[in-house]
Amino acid sequence: MNLSFMYKESPFISNSTMATWMTLSLQDSSSPMMEQLIFFHDHTLLILTTIVALVSYLMGSLFFNTNINRNLLESQTIEMIWTITPAIILFFIAVPSLRLLYLMDEINNPAITLKTVGHQWYWSYEYSDFSNIEFDTYMIPLNEMEDSSFRLLDVDNRIVLPMNTHIRMIVTAADVLHSWTIPSMGVKVDATPGRLNQMGMLINRPGLFYGQCSEICGANHSFMPIVMESVKTNTFISWISHLSEAS
Ligand code: CUA
Repeated sequence: MNLSFMYKESPFISNSTMATWMTLSLQDSSSPMMEQLIFFHDHTLLILTTIVALVSYLMGSLFFNTNINRNLLESQTIEMIWTITPAIILFFIAVPSLRLLYLMDEINNPAITLKTVGHQWYWSYEYSDFSNIEFDTYMIPLNEMEDSSFRLLDVDNRIVLPMNTHIRMIVTAADVLHSWTIPSMGVKVDATPGRLNQMGMLINRPGLFYGQCSEICGANHSFMPIVMESVKTNTFISWISHLSEAS
């Protein structure tokens, strides 16, 4: 049974998010949290670029310096400046970083909960708010791929979630460590046997979002991808009721 019948009818077929060989930077965001993470990345990269440029210039000028400048050989003032300035710069990186760290930990009264269990080597999902809705998702092997399939990235049963809804994700594992992630949503949580990890998600656009297991978990670690369909609430409701009737 193919559970993911919705997407083939939806108009968002080009709206998928994954890393391709042309992706040099982060994937386009599909959640407010990831937007913030991209802003933080750009902010830090700007500071880093400035530091690298300044230090390169200083190293170059020192290399060609004849060491007769008394301010470079002995000066309390410049030592004070180049000690305190990096501390101030670090402050401007640490504060927004900590802000994001605590924002990511926040769970905002979620409307639905999705539980995922990592196995060697597939993911299984449970929609805990509904009775008896659970299924496994396996990667589509090379010999079963269609022309439109993405190699090593597509699965047989996609998870479907409504956009603009607070979602609680519960992550655990059955055998060894795995890690569940969707980079365009800015989420990555370790799946640990005997432990439930929790995270909050909010999807802000429709589309297909891809992820891969991110913890070395054995021979087929590369072959347990994650695919999420983000749909309208009504579409989600009809999908989930279709599943309830089927089970
Ligand atoms: Cu599961 Cu790597």
